Amino acid sequence: MIIDTHAHYDDEAFDEDRDALIRGFYDRGIEMVVNIGADMESSRRTILLAEKYDNIYGAIGVHPNETKNLREEDMQWLTAAAAHPKVVAIGEIGLDYYWDEPERETQIKWFVRQLDVARQVKLPVVIHSREAAKDTLDIMKAEKGGEIGGVIHCFSYSVEMAREYLNMGFFLGIGGVATFKNARRLKEVIQYMPMDRMVLETDSPYLTPVPYRGKRNNSGYLPYVVDAVAELKGMSAEDVIAVTRENALRLYHKCDDIRVK
Ligand code: NI
Repeated sequence: MIIDTHAHYDDEAFDEDRDALIRGFYDRGIEMVVNIGADMESSRRTILLAEKYDNIYGAIGVHPNETKNLREEDMQWLTAAAAHPKVVAIGEIGLDYYWDEPERETQIKWFVRQLDVARQVKLPVVIHSREAAKDTLDIMKAEKGGEIGGVIHCFSYSVEMAREYLNMGFFLGIGGVATFKNARRLKEVIQYMPMDRMVLETDSPYLTPVPYRGKRNNSGYLPYVVDAVAELKGMSAEDVIAVTRENALRLYHKCDDIRVK
């Protein structure tokens, strides 16, 4: 079955039908989902979701654009909360120069600090990097990100950049963009990368695959991403599902200890 390694079911976009949707995943071929925190509040909500549903795990962390009012106490909370049995990663953290706020120094400061949290609690990181390829890579190298490990979520850079992260041992998150006609650069990356480093993700409610592009996303649409990858790789859909599932469990290694089989 399929594992969705990145979604935001605490988002208000799911307020109407969250429960029915999550309870229906199994019948749609979705085994489990890792819900990703993007600020302190959504990190708390992520833990509540993971406590409520067997098929939800969580990552806690603060997205670069939400770092403005962070305080050191928040880092203490993240560090302590990471011990929760269903918290399997620190994220999403990183740099976003597309939205470019708060100022870059602030984004960088809290990116580095959260890498530190991940190292301390021995969990992988979920990296968000948009239009910040060079700084992200420089920081990851300086901070020895390869020792921490994790995933570059919604990978959007070139083959050359993919090679750098693959060399560091990172997984690359592939989602709805793979189904877009104009996504030439991502399709090149998919063809280039080894299958044992790919994980599937939706980023729900965002980045909905064709043929639902523009509507609200959910994990049940992942088979469209599977088909796009299968075609680019010359593999069967079943094989894409099996290998990305194994990868997801290697990435989020804490899942395996406690997972309901
Ligand atoms: Ni996300």
